[in-house]
Amino acid sequence: MTRQIQLYYKNALSDIVTSEHGIRIDELTALSVRITEITADMDRQRKAGKLPYRDLPYQDKIVSNVKALTHKLAGKFDNLVVLGIGGSALGNIALQGALSRPTYNLQSERPGPRLFVLDNVDPVQLADILDLLADQLDRTLFNVISKSGQTSETASQFLIVCQLLREKLGQDKLADHIVATTDAKSGTLRGIVEKQRLTSLLVPDGVGGRFSVLSDVGLFSAAMCGIDIESLMAGARDMDERVKTGALTKNPAALYAVLQYLFYLKGKKLCVMMPYSYQLKDLADWFRQLWAESLGKSHDLSGQLVNVGPTPIKALGATDQHSQVQLYREGPNDKVFTFLAVENFDRDVTIGSAEGIPELKYLEKQKMSRLINSEKLGTEYALLQSQRPCLTIHFPRVSPYTVGQFIYLFEVATSYMGQLLNINTYDQPAVELGKHATFALMGDQNYRDLQRKIQPISQLDDSFLI
Ligand code: PA5
Repeated sequence: MTRQIQLYYKNALSDIVTSEHGIRIDELTALSVRITEITADMDRQRKAGKLPYRDLPYQDKIVSNVKALTHKLAGKFDNLVVLGIGGSALGNIALQGALSRPTYNLQSERPGPRLFVLDNVDPVQLADILDLLADQLDRTLFNVISKSGQTSETASQFLIVCQLLREKLGQDKLADHIVATTDAKSGTLRGIVEKQRLTSLLVPDGVGGRFSVLSDVGLFSAAMCGIDIESLMAGARDMDERVKTGALTKNPAALYAVLQYLFYLKGKKLCVMMPYSYQLKDLADWFRQLWAESLGKSHDLSGQLVNVGPTPIKALGATDQHSQVQLYREGPNDKVFTFLAVENFDRDVTIGSAEGIPELKYLEKQKMSRLINSEKLGTEYALLQSQRPCLTIHFPRVSPYTVGQFIYLFEVATSYMGQLLNINTYDQPAVELGKHATFALMGDQNYRDLQRKIQPISQLDDSFLI
């Protein structure tokens, strides 16, 4: 049987970091009945079709459709450009970062096209990438991903790309160069798909962007780049077997959520995720959105004003040891650390000779894998000496299977955490106001009232400008 990822939680307990800063076993036990109830409740919601993200790994049709399209497009493109933002981009970036070679885009021999994910509207970045692609448009495929089609960042990029394709290749070639991933029935992008007869993929019904990576949203770009999406789904399914149980200490998603919840109640409201693997760094970014957008809420389910939500922070080991660890050890003890550690790296490098340099002799002929894992343990030891609680997700290796497991584990942990906090995990109402303000500032006449309200802050007051 393929080895699975595991959660190690001893170093978050009171025996290790004192009862002031760690969790006591009796505090965990006290929540075990609540977890059994939440698990049963989530099971009911799932059976009633209210948690569709939970069933994505079982939908063989998703994989077969994506593979059929990938097969049809194979060899036709040198570049794949994803246009999307938030949940419509972070999963794609995370899968590519974890499962393709770090220098994938620079390799002459690649299993698929170069991948660019444009998840911003920075004009310099965009202009530069468009310059790069200008002479290769006939070999470039654009995958526009937006559930609504209304998101101004993605919509603006899409309009730019359509115009470029029309000008350079002609209107009749548009459909050959765009795959649109969007809602099956509604939304602006669905309308465009129908009108322009674009090839389309689906954002599954009832699945929010940040829970959608294991659907067409994340799988298409991954499959195009040669990532084994079947193993990814198999990993998620095997994790589902483990996170279905109502027994707290057997269910890593429930246990992770309970630990984070208890830490939150103890005033540790900052959650640092620190992968000791360059490949896993974008998964920490993906987690950051999942945790923040799902759990940061003003009201609970009974309508009480609560303003809850842990703050996820991303750090990268060993790099950020030289940036953040001073603060993490000696600053306020208000953080919980989640390390991501890899047992077997796919590649390794041996350190060279230290002949004549006695100070560096200890490094000679050692493996870099040993060094990075020693750095993880060294940092954990140092944090524990300062009573900072540490959790670790152990990856036997980084593979589509274990990454699928990680994604599913943290999606379900987020659902548990949302239930413990008694909030709606799946909406993001606070994102709307800023979006509408942007519409207003860009001159959308439907937002004239808002335009007037923004006026006072859009004019700089010189007396405060130094
Ligand atoms: O997780 C979410 O729901 C959001 O981050 C969305 O994915 C993001 O706002 C983009 O939305 P859309 O797919 O409608 O363009």
